[in-house]
Amino acid sequence: MARIVITEFMDLPAVAQLRGAHDVLYDPQLVDDPARLHAEAVTADAIVVRNRTQVRGELLAALKRCTVVARLGVGLDNIDVPACETRGVRVIPASGANALSVAEYVVATSMLLLRGAYQSTADVAGGQWPRTPLSNGRELAGKTLGLVGFGSIGQLTARLAKALGMHVVAFDAMMDREHAAFAEAGVAFQGLAELLAQADVVSLHLPLVESTRNLFDARRIASMKPGAVLINTARGGIVDEPALAEALRSGKLGGAAIDVFATEPLPAQPHFLGCPNLVLTPHVAGVTRESNERVSSMIAQKVLEALN
Ligand SMILES: NC(=O)c1ccc[n+]([C@@H]2O[C@H](COP(=O)([O-])OP(=O)(O)OC[C@H]3O[C@@H](n4cnc5c(N)ncnc54)[C@H](O)[C@@H]3O)[C@@H](O)[C@H]2O)c1
Repeated sequence: MARIVITEFMDLPAVAQLRGAHDVLYDPQLVDDPARLHAEAVTADAIVVRNRTQVRGELLAALKRCTVVARLGVGLDNIDVPACETRGVRVIPASGANALSVAEYVVATSMLLLRGAYQSTADVAGGQWPRTPLSNGRELAGKTLGLVGFGSIGQLTARLAKALGMHVVAFDAMMDREHAAFAEAGVAFQGLAELLAQADVVSLHLPLVESTRNLFDARRIASMKPGAVLINTARGGIVDEPALAEALRSGKLGGAAIDVFATEPLPAQPHFLGCPNLVLTPHVAGVTRESNERVSSMIAQKVLEALN
């Protein structure tokens, strides 16, 4: 029987599945108590984390017996993957399990931001009738969606967007234009500069690594099509937040939805206050009831296989 330490929220039936075969410590608050986390890590054969537990440095050193690091999600920027590999520790993400939640978030915010008409509740209820200023919204169908990163989430987003009549183009730094995924999805590969010049909606689906940090800086945002909408559900640190706010205020961009931030939880950010057509959400694009179940049960299954 192995010892599994779960440091953040996991769906309870999946925890029960692990308990059926192993000794499990499930404490969703453990991530907030570093001293206890390190003490528990010493006897763990497997550790299960979401995105807040930093599996690197001292914690990794404390994981002396551990052979499996499982991630309830997909981005691996909170895990020192090369150091895990050097120590023979397997890193297991829940690839694809929350892709649909993110893809639906992208479609929904694309519609909301292009239309620009859904933030009128207070005005309408208050006896205002802002019909003229809100009659200028745009339809989604016929617009060009530019996907930056064409892995599981990018490909699923393309399918949903095409079903709604969007024209979809994509750039992926690790895939060339001949890659079968583009033909299968009916998506045209484009270089990043060309994509940014054409897309009405740009949605980011790439990991945060050194080469993507600050990829969307002031210069790149300025190269986007005037009036375009930017959606970032990938990772904070890829988009320069003050530069984005400035592009919204100046009218260069027509809207933005940002789910991930360089610092999370996001401290009060004066540059975002009062920005037009801006949707900010607290890192929930991939988190729904259904995806929580899928992510947790996929990870439980993979951890059981890895420990056998
Ligand atoms: N907000 C949320 O709740 C949430 C949920 C799930 C995933 N995510 C984020 O979304 C990202 C994408 O997830 P996924 O499951 O599609 O991952 P994935 O690994 O399937 O796809 C990522 C793609 O990005 C490409 N890529 C790498 N570097 C690039 C670059 N410099 N330019 C363009 N493309 C590049 C890769 O080749 C790959 O095809 C994850 O890294 C994660 O950080 C966020």
